[in-house]
Amino acid sequence: MDKLLITGGQRLSGSLRISGAKNSALKLLAGVLLTEEPVTLGNVPHLHDVTTMIELLGCLGADVVIDEKLRVEVTASQLRSVRAPYELVKTMRASFVVLGPLLARCGSAEVSLPGGCAIGARPVDQHLKGLTALGADIEVIDGYVHARVDGRLKGAEVTFDMVTVGGTENVLMAACLADGQTVIHNAAREPEIVDLAEFLIAMGADITGQGTFTIVVNGVERLHGCSYSVMPDRVETGTYLIAAAATGGSIRVQGAAPETLSVVLDKLRESGAQIAIHDDVIELDMHGRRPIAVDIETAPYPGFPTDMQAQYLAMNAIADGTSRIHETIFENRFMHVQEINRLGANIEIEGGSTAVVHGVAQLKAAPVMATDLRASFSLVVAALVASGTTLIDRIYHIDRGYETIEEKLQLLGADVRRVR
Ligand code: UD1
Repeated sequence: MDKLLITGGQRLSGSLRISGAKNSALKLLAGVLLTEEPVTLGNVPHLHDVTTMIELLGCLGADVVIDEKLRVEVTASQLRSVRAPYELVKTMRASFVVLGPLLARCGSAEVSLPGGCAIGARPVDQHLKGLTALGADIEVIDGYVHARVDGRLKGAEVTFDMVTVGGTENVLMAACLADGQTVIHNAAREPEIVDLAEFLIAMGADITGQGTFTIVVNGVERLHGCSYSVMPDRVETGTYLIAAAATGGSIRVQGAAPETLSVVLDKLRESGAQIAIHDDVIELDMHGRRPIAVDIETAPYPGFPTDMQAQYLAMNAIADGTSRIHETIFENRFMHVQEINRLGANIEIEGGSTAVVHGVAQLKAAPVMATDLRASFSLVVAALVASGTTLIDRIYHIDRGYETIEEKLQLLGADVRRVR
């Protein structure tokens, strides 16, 4: 099993190009199932989760070709299966979003209940509620969701009980081929939803309201092929900005989408960073200063993203002052706290959903273990600021979501090595 060896103490400094967004690329790849025609996707990040999704598409009968510019061309002209097996879905929750497209295109689907990061119960009741409203008959048998519909799905009003990114995506994709109008109320407003909607529009879908609480989809009989480029990864962008700030360093990230990171950039300014933005470039400079402790409360977009909570917490661990980090999206998302405390941090969990972080002047290296995707990068941030060499085990979690992590960190001057 791969591990990372990080010797802390270097200030990160330099330039970095941001990859395409994992959380968007995965959904766009699922959306390809809605058409028989070839679809070409650019800016697809090279990640384990993307490989898993491509494997799933292959399993369903799609042809996938990666060209010399690393564009992914998928042709799902004839599907030979509508079953997404447990072995693939268990490793990655995002694969559950093939349910909507398969059902809308083929009239039936069998998709294993999902796995993915162990950050809370993460049920799929809202996905199923939405698809049922569109006319699907759904049963859960032996860990698989069996969904079917006679003829086409029917447009309907869908109101989610909470903001759900995956639920919105499943229903949005299914509604594109439904008969009539679907209105999704309390829709997720994440930039990845907007990216998915724009992609579906490029395939001929009739969608308005993406990026707001109410998305309206007028179903069409068929969608066609298109060429589309995946949006920049806002979580990767924020993660490297936080890592640089924690080390007192300076960084220039290129190919980013600064408008998707407003709250994170504001928090970084509060932490003491000087930030400049020009088009798709974000420059951050801490001028060697120690970060100031800053309170965080995660919330659906445009609030502070839960996917950057762990990384910010790691920076607060060495910040000047005490901060409170309140997690409102997932109920079990503080597994990294125990590990960061092993490095000498002083963090307490209050009532399960709040971490009280008493900033310490210095962390000290110790062996630690990655527990989930984003939490694993919080250990990287902690290791970068710790004295000595930290060994991070189970980094397969990091490889699910961060492209060429050690190359990118080395480029910024970090002392990082992968060992087996
Ligand atoms: C997506 C992102 C993940 C991010 C999360 C929240 C991908 C691949 N993953 O996950 O990185 O952290 O959005 O921004 O895009 N819920 C239910 N019932 C449902 C669906 C969700 O109770 O049917 C709950 C979840 O348990 C969670 C909350 O709603 O507490 C938000 O989940 P959701 O937005 O659906 O997250 P994902 O789509 O799984």
